[in-house]
Amino acid sequence: MSATLAAEAAPIAQAAGPHVAPLMGAVEELLGEIAAGTAPQLAPHGAATIAAGGKRLRPLLVLVAAGAPEPGRDTASLVRAAAAVELVHSATLVHDDVLDDAPMRRGAPTVYASAGRAMATCAGDQLFARAFSLLVQTGRPDEIRALSDAGSGLARGELLQRADAWDATVTLDRYLLRCELKTARLFEAACALGVMESGRADADPTVLGSFGRRIGLAFQLLDDVLDVSGPVERTGKHRGTDLLDGTVTLPFIVARERDPQLAALDPRTITTPQQAEEVCDAIAATGALDAAREQALELVAGARRDIPADLPEAQRRALDLVATGVVARYA
Ligand code: IPE
Ligand code: IPE
Ligand code: MG
Ligand code: MG
Repeated sequence: MSATLAAEAAPIAQAAGPHVAPLMGAVEELLGEIAAGTAPQLAPHGAATIAAGGKRLRPLLVLVAAGAPEPGRDTASLVRAAAAVELVHSATLVHDDVLDDAPMRRGAPTVYASAGRAMATCAGDQLFARAFSLLVQTGRPDEIRALSDAGSGLARGELLQRADAWDATVTLDRYLLRCELKTARLFEAACALGVMESGRADADPTVLGSFGRRIGLAFQLLDDVLDVSGPVERTGKHRGTDLLDGTVTLPFIVARERDPQLAALDPRTITTPQQAEEVCDAIAATGALDAAREQALELVAGARRDIPADLPEAQRRALDLVATGVVARYA
């Protein structure tokens, strides 16, 4: 298990202050211990998902939202909270790949592809359970509530996605609600947990929570743009995988308003990767990708504007870098 920061996380950690890199190292170590400590039959799957890395954006958000700890403050609970958020995220990825029939995740075959639906279901459940058995050690019911609300939201978001599958007429509001539930709420919880662990009794977790929610929503919007725009080298998957499994996203919603042929298209008739690529091209030709990107940029701009002025300069800078990083990955 590497204790090196993910490339995306390094500049943010540097801006936040010298405390962040060692804390991220401690989070990574704890994740490694947890992965190794699961039942032998299931350990390889959960452990492989964690060991495959990922950007570690959500635990980093916990640490950045917490700010620099007072000298001498015990940071064990903060590290646990950050690791718990990453465990919930990893659990949802393992389950999401079952729902989306996905072959690859974090540059490796998904648990679903390599070990099957049953193993992926159990491995995801186990990661969820481990997240909460870790978080309960902080002894903070408010933290457990924040993370369990996010977990419930995630499940609701995935249910909504299944309920709306293949429905090209899904409304923008319903699409945004799905993104908020399945992605933004965990970013919100990451920030809220950080504030709860900061030791600042007067700090309101909803303020940075709202920052997290907005950049999380933008993150999902841009992920959905990337599914249409590619390129494959960047995403590691064909363009149009969302279309192929009936997931109607913002680019398609916008493009249908602009192109009558797309408006008349039944997503069920898109059955091959080549057809999906052609529909992606037609979506791109309407300018819908720029419109979707614009919407994400506005969300990020609002989040940046509202970073509380009373936070220490280094923390403000780090939060700003997280927000711009969400956009930069997809520029
Ligand atoms: C992927 O999240 C799932 C979405 C919400 C789009 P990340 O892109 O943060 O995944 P990892 O952790 O870096 O693998
Ligand atoms: C995000 O949705 C998944 C979760 C929040 C669990 P996607 O299905 O678009 O994510 P990717 O594209 O598989 O990473
Ligand atoms: Mg998916
Ligand atoms: Mg996606």
